[in-house]
Amino acid sequence: MAEVKSSTPALVDSSRDPTDIIVPDDDVDYPSDLVDNASETGSSTYSLSSSVVNYQYENGRRYHAYREGAYFAPNDEQEQARMDLLQHITRLMVGGELFLAPIGPNPGRILDLGTGTGNWAIHLADQFPKSTVIGIDLSPIQSDWAPPNCYFQVDDFESPWDFWDFSKPFDFIHAGNLAGSVKDFPHLLQQAKNTLNPGGWFEFVDFAPEPFADDDTLQGAPNLCEMSRFCNEASIKFGKKLRVTDSYKQWMIDAGFKDVKEHVYKVPMGRWPKDPKLKQIGEYHLVQMLESLEPYTLALLTRVLGWTTEEVQVLISGARSELLDRKLHMYSKLYFVYGRKDEAD
Ligand SMILES: C[S@@+](CC[C@H](N)C(=O)[O-])C[C@H]1O[C@@H](n2cnc3c(N)ncnc32)[C@H](O)[C@@H]1O
Repeated sequence: MAEVKSSTPALVDSSRDPTDIIVPDDDVDYPSDLVDNASETGSSTYSLSSSVVNYQYENGRRYHAYREGAYFAPNDEQEQARMDLLQHITRLMVGGELFLAPIGPNPGRILDLGTGTGNWAIHLADQFPKSTVIGIDLSPIQSDWAPPNCYFQVDDFESPWDFWDFSKPFDFIHAGNLAGSVKDFPHLLQQAKNTLNPGGWFEFVDFAPEPFADDDTLQGAPNLCEMSRFCNEASIKFGKKLRVTDSYKQWMIDAGFKDVKEHVYKVPMGRWPKDPKLKQIGEYHLVQMLESLEPYTLALLTRVLGWTTEEVQVLISGARSELLDRKLHMYSKLYFVYGRKDEAD
């Protein structure tokens, strides 16, 4: 992946109405080295059984071994860097926050479902040194450099939730970027609710997987739009739908959560906004989008829809050019949805 400038842009003005139209810049440029390929160095210092680290390789990417095939995206270094970049972008959009739910100054036990690299859990454990933070994932790809109040476990959150030490319930459960990872969200929410303390909070944060634009420039991105449609079709066939973010709020209400709130932010793809902060976030998101093309398409379109790798690469190549087209004013929708377990539950 291209080196992302180390200077962190000033945070997005939190007084901005997230639904505002983003004003495009008429004169957009991209550095020629914006996109390189990330190198795979693959290192894990965990000592785990071979059923967990016996990774599967396919089309040049590395996939999880535990519950093989349950999750569509790779778990290699390239994908880990993308997940961390996505989290950086997410935080920049909300003033550096790790979550939006009003969990209070002293959350006791916190659970991160599908923790990925564990970056979010590690930052949260740093923010709340008296809390216990547990991250679970199918892949043991979390850093060894976790604070002492942060633990990681390889497990499947779609199995019955009796696999941890559940002698004590949680005060906050976080689900980050799990679109396409879950067969039955209402069931997951019920398990979460049963596992929360009364008054405890659940929060989703996720990107809708399709591109948006407020003008007619989406017409200039037929490959990206097709890709999004095909991936969603494959995800439905696979049994874990990708386009779910706009259902999170209702699912939480239906599961009986109280004070459910939804916040949606527009995250530009590229340097096209006039606003300098959004321009820089857009550059990060463009790199992230370019890096997401393979992870989202390779397994879903070849395994589920039966495409050849070459057919997928042709689609990726078209989508890539569209992402780099400075005339297109595309953005992603970033959802934060959270709610509280009733004190009486
Ligand atoms: C898109 S990544 C998001 C990672 C992290 N939450 C973040 O926002 O950076 C989805 C993660 O969920 C994990 N995952 C998918 N299905 C899972 C399951 N059934 N149980 C545990 N983890 C799962 C994947 O291994 C992957 O790391």
